[in-house]
Amino acid sequence: MAEKGKKLTIVGSGAVGTAAAQWAVSRNAADSIVLLDVVEGVPQGKALDLAQCAPLCGFTGSIAGTNDYADSSGSDVVIITAGLARKPGMSRDDLLDMNVKIVRSVTEEAVRHSPDACIVVVTNPIDAMVYTAFKVSGFPRERVVGMAGVLDSARYRTFLAWELGVAPSDITALVMGIHGDNMLPLTRLASVNGVPVEELLSREKLDEIVNRTQNGGAEIVQHLKTGSAFSTPGRAAVEMAESILRDKKRVLPCAAYLQGEFGIDGVFLGVPVVLGSGGVEKIVEFELTPEEKDAMQLSVEAVRKQVAATGL
Ligand code: 2OP
Repeated sequence: MAEKGKKLTIVGSGAVGTAAAQWAVSRNAADSIVLLDVVEGVPQGKALDLAQCAPLCGFTGSIAGTNDYADSSGSDVVIITAGLARKPGMSRDDLLDMNVKIVRSVTEEAVRHSPDACIVVVTNPIDAMVYTAFKVSGFPRERVVGMAGVLDSARYRTFLAWELGVAPSDITALVMGIHGDNMLPLTRLASVNGVPVEELLSREKLDEIVNRTQNGGAEIVQHLKTGSAFSTPGRAAVEMAESILRDKKRVLPCAAYLQGEFGIDGVFLGVPVVLGSGGVEKIVEFELTPEEKDAMQLSVEAVRKQVAATGL
């Protein structure tokens, strides 16, 4: 009997959800894609538009839009993008009250129809929303993960590449911690194909790039005024989903539930993980310097405040 194909549901057909669907189609990331939203007509129209990309991009699966969670049944991965996005002057924390209600109800519906899925949370503030999905779903920690490190690391790699005048794909760099002002771009480990960037750029320049990375989301919100970044967040979520769906075992920085790793307990925080068909198959632990540990502690405190505000 033919193996059942892999099914991906994307909840939320706003800018990030639509971008994720587009990237998933263009990469053949799943055999069946469902775009789901409460707004009638929007996911249907967007999915139909994307289905018509198939001859151009070689997508061989199916994509459908719906308002009904029953259509998401049996998903292997559910990406949650539903929620409000930032406007200028708003922090990610300002979204918490509204988005916790949305993520709660989306999670309840999604897990009812896909009890074996892995959940990838994109809704901000991500580190608290992924905790919300974890608590509400009752899933094991391996099957609930937050997007952020892939996005923040991509920004960091881009800014480093621009400064060095090299191909962005040749930069390896890791951003850990919260998806917020206290995120930790690990300059010590950033390299151009193995050559440490600390040998190539001044401390002052590196600090500037770290700062731009930490404010990367706000910089885009300031330009857009009516919304926030969507293309790279969508791509980052698909990078994670695809690694799970296709069992790629990519090592990606993601918000994972920590139980003692890096000396941190009981919060979701960005750390390198192995993503495969089992979800978070491994948290890749390594020794942080005392300064990095202090920086991670700031992330922990910020996330604990967010989590307290969820009331969960
Ligand atoms: C960002 O950093 C949307 O939080 C997201 O752009």
